[in-house]
Amino acid sequence: MQKQFTTTSPAQTRALGKRLAAACRGGEVFLLSGDLGAGKTCLTQGLAAGLAIAEPVTSPTFVTHQEYRGARGLALEHFDFYRLRAGGDEFADFFNRPDCVCALEWAQMLAPILPPEHLSITLEIVAPRRRRIVIETRTPSGEEFLARIE
Ligand SMILES: Nc1ncnc2c1ncn2[C@@H]1O[C@H](COP(=O)(O)OP(=O)(O)O)[C@@H](O)[C@H]1O
Ligand SMILES: [Mg+2]
Repeated sequence: MQKQFTTTSPAQTRALGKRLAAACRGGEVFLLSGDLGAGKTCLTQGLAAGLAIAEPVTSPTFVTHQEYRGARGLALEHFDFYRLRAGGDEFADFFNRPDCVCALEWAQMLAPILPPEHLSITLEIVAPRRRRIVIETRTPSGEEFLARIE
């Protein structure tokens, strides 16, 4: 099952991230894919806003993992595996934990340890400011998540 969105500004992409956060109950793992500049970090900033995280979320390209504590009791675990060439297994401890929401950029290199319970989000650059954002799931709880998005 999938849900598709189109945004025409970074603010709209952040707003979508906020809507996704509103549907989060903890344990969600978002696999974000899309070219450099597609808006993966932008969407993650919206997730952070929706989880009531005051700290600014930056692109952790030189830092593989960044944790942000949110006022809703859910932490945001933000990963960027762009520079990771090996390892990363230790990060699996965070996946599907009920007290956090994981957002993973460039998770392809982690394919063998990615949890079956996840939501795939693909961001496509359609035009300089237009993004097609597709959220896809293959699990019952993923379908319930999609149904909770308002
Ligand atoms: N509709 C849009 N949604 C998200 N970002 C957009 C949009 N239109 C333009 N942009 C620009 O695209 C870039 C997205 O950057 P970023 O979120 O860091 O991408 P990624 O993490 O996928 O590499 C930013 O410079 C942002 O201003
Ligand atoms: Mg990024």
